[in-house]
Amino acid sequence: MRVAVIGGGGREHALVRLLRRSPSVREVLALPGNDGIAADGVRCLDVDPLDLEDMCRTLAAERVDLAVVGPEAPLVAGLADRLEAAGIPVFGPRQAAARIEGSKAFAKEFMARHGIPTAPGRVFTEPAEAEDFLRRHPGPWVVKADGLAAGKGVFVCGSTGEALEAVDLLMRRGAFGDAGRRVVIEERLEGRELSVLAITDGKRLELLPPARDHKRLRDGDRGPNTGGMGAYSPVPDATPGILERVRREILEPAVAGLAEEGAAYRGVLYAGLMLTADGPRVLEFNCRLGDPEAQVILPRLEGDVARLFLAAATGRLEGTLRVRELAAVCVVLAAPGYPGKPQHDLPITGLEEAAALPGVHLYHAGTRCRAGGWVTAGGRVVAVTGLGGDLEEARRRAYGAAERIRFPGRQMRQDIAGPPAT
Ligand code: AMP
Ligand code: GLY
Repeated sequence: MRVAVIGGGGREHALVRLLRRSPSVREVLALPGNDGIAADGVRCLDVDPLDLEDMCRTLAAERVDLAVVGPEAPLVAGLADRLEAAGIPVFGPRQAAARIEGSKAFAKEFMARHGIPTAPGRVFTEPAEAEDFLRRHPGPWVVKADGLAAGKGVFVCGSTGEALEAVDLLMRRGAFGDAGRRVVIEERLEGRELSVLAITDGKRLELLPPARDHKRLRDGDRGPNTGGMGAYSPVPDATPGILERVRREILEPAVAGLAEEGAAYRGVLYAGLMLTADGPRVLEFNCRLGDPEAQVILPRLEGDVARLFLAAATGRLEGTLRVRELAAVCVVLAAPGYPGKPQHDLPITGLEEAAALPGVHLYHAGTRCRAGGWVTAGGRVVAVTGLGGDLEEARRRAYGAAERIRFPGRQMRQDIAGPPAT
């Protein structure tokens, strides 16, 4: 079959690599892809994933058998609905189901309707009511913009003053436009975070190996939140007992609940969790693979993954997921200025040398290939995944390769897959 991967970051590079290994795949296309994907010999078509019209037309003209959508924004905008209407199977949820990520208010109320464990919280549309609530209840609170805000709309607050500031920023000053006019205010939970993702066809689901990402910019979980500075899989403290609870108490009720509400979910459902003393609690749902979680989960899969994705896309998922007994650690190299204003056009060296090391996968995210060589072209520049028999070996390989890739002002955490921050 011919498979189109939609998106152009490190996650999509990992998807392309994996799908090309599937025996049933004849060609993988990327839209728009990136220069690193193109350097693998993959045809990249310059189509904006948010231009739904152009995307439908292009995929139909290319006679694609399956579209795999990486990022959330086109799904929330209704890309899957449009492609399905054009007769193209899509691995990724329709708009109604993608609301589980697209609206945190919807997700919060959905979880309440279906008894899915999450931080107690409330939805507010009036700033005065939110402020009044915060003044009357001591917290600590987390304030979240309702809509998509590229991972920047969540404020974990240490005091009532901070929470009031977040409400002011989102609801009164409109820092995220319409995305922040409505907010969720929820209790701040304590524990370690875990990402558990599942492939589902709307009825059945297959858990992917669990992963943990590191969201803060600097070592020891300090500095601003980012899209993710690294990840690892498996996660030793995600015991089979915990994963079974996540399946039974969270993912199965979510899939069943969406179907019951007429929004059957197809694709990857991502549960971002806090492992609290009372058990796993949902912090957020995402309607897609995580980035950089994909860069540690996908290299661990084997078999005909394209066929598995197609089965999920067409409502016929069977128990066919195969996972390699390998550990994976991914280290992200970010441009100076990230996550604010990343600096572009900085020369990058060492990519080929790093990619040639055993047990190493390089996934391009924000790079560009110029006549003179590779330069930075985004915030997260490359994701370096090391594979090994255990996390220690995977980590050594990831850092061994990452150290060889250089550009001015390179930002890289040294503690990915290390012991928990204290
Ligand atoms: P979200 O996009 O909702 O996952 O939030 C982004 C990050 O904010 C999470 O990965 C957590 O680190 C943090 N966070 C979100 N909700 C909570 C909560 N209720 N308690 C503590 N931390 C949270
Ligand atoms: N790494 C977190 C996310 O993709 O949302």
